[in-house]
Amino acid sequence: MPHFSYRDGELCAEQVPLSEIAARFGTPCFIYSRAAIETGWRAYDDAFAGRSHLVCYAVKANGNLALLHLLARLGSGFDIVSGGELERVLRAGGDPARIVFSGVGKRADEIDQALAAGIGCFNVESAAELRRLERIAGALGKRARVALRVNPDVDAGTHPYIATALKESKFGIAHREALAVYREAARSPHLQVTGIACHIGSQITSLEPFIDAFTRVLQLADSLRVEGMDIDHVDMGGGLGIRYRDEAPPAPEQLVQALCARIGQRTLKLMLEPGRSVVGEAGVLLTRVEYLKYGAARNFAIVDAAMNDLLRPSLYDAWQDILPVRQQSGSAPQTFDVVGPVCESADFLGLGRSLAIAEGDLLAVASSGAYAACMSSNYNARPRAAEILVDGSRAHEVRRRESIETLLTLESIPPE
Ligand code: LLP
Repeated sequence: MPHFSYRDGELCAEQVPLSEIAARFGTPCFIYSRAAIETGWRAYDDAFAGRSHLVCYAVKANGNLALLHLLARLGSGFDIVSGGELERVLRAGGDPARIVFSGVGKRADEIDQALAAGIGCFNVESAAELRRLERIAGALGKRARVALRVNPDVDAGTHPYIATALKESKFGIAHREALAVYREAARSPHLQVTGIACHIGSQITSLEPFIDAFTRVLQLADSLRVEGMDIDHVDMGGGLGIRYRDEAPPAPEQLVQALCARIGQRTLKLMLEPGRSVVGEAGVLLTRVEYLKYGAARNFAIVDAAMNDLLRPSLYDAWQDILPVRQQSGSAPQTFDVVGPVCESADFLGLGRSLAIAEGDLLAVASSGAYAACMSSNYNARPRAAEILVDGSRAHEVRRRESIETLLTLESIPPE
């Protein structure tokens, strides 16, 4: 996490000490570094070095408007999976023509909304969805640009919950059925076949699965060309991992170079949909130790953040580093399970961590820029945490902490 570092013994986001943020905005809160986000996106964009391409940031990783706005200003495209994400991108100033719409369950109203906005491409995930899209586009007198998301049947070697290209997966159209669905699409006056899409999973730490999938996708592109269906782009999705502990994933440049090297003479625009590798290391979750509790079998550091704020450890057994905000502490290190106040034994942020801490200390859960705030919930009637964007020496609150009032506002008690 290069944009988070210790200065004078205190962890800072760029130039802002995290204790200052805690004092000003309270805890728990998510803290993002603008420089880290921009560097993360540029690592992809720069790697293409003149080749026709589009980096479509995957909004699902973190859809905060301020982050989307930063990326829109860099010229990013966006990968969305819902009408809600579409609205976020538009409100953040994203270019509709650079939006691709993925997802297996697009509702009719979401398709309407995306056609009205004039998005760049629908990544269609089934023959049934293709028919719905063609019906709606026909009724509106529009022609929808489509890519089929194919499932290349490769094992991304990642956690089963985030592997998406296995035969058993709900995602995409099986590689061997794709050609027939393409033929159907090509016959419709309301559909314009423009590309092939693919996304094989997330937190992938080697290039091989990407290359295997790309090889299959290029074979399909060649078959389409033979049939007179000239596509203009191939979208290889997201999925590149980051270092949470000791993983050594390839850099974005390596992924881009490996793919570009295999395109050969084909005049295809290459698109990617990275999420985690753009914003994951650009954020931390800041939390305060409420109590230290010493048990017969385990010691607990009970903090004010919980699984409702950061679900990844509970849901995927994910390991994220937990750093003390003050490097030097009076106390000797002890082993703690870092847990929240939620009434579930699965409510932990980290197990068996060696920490020298006292009650009232601040801790930062590292690499919490992706799939963290966006996966948070109100479980146990806990208001969602604030989100802070640091830019050099300034800190902006880009999402206010929810209040109990915001939690209750949509509920009502029916009359007797
Ligand atoms: N494109 C599509 C179609 C996707 O489904 C995803 C992620 C991405 C792009 C972005 O993938 P990335 O570059 O972020 O790996 N909640 C899980 C991750 C779920 C990923 C879902 N799809 C986690 O916290 O690990």
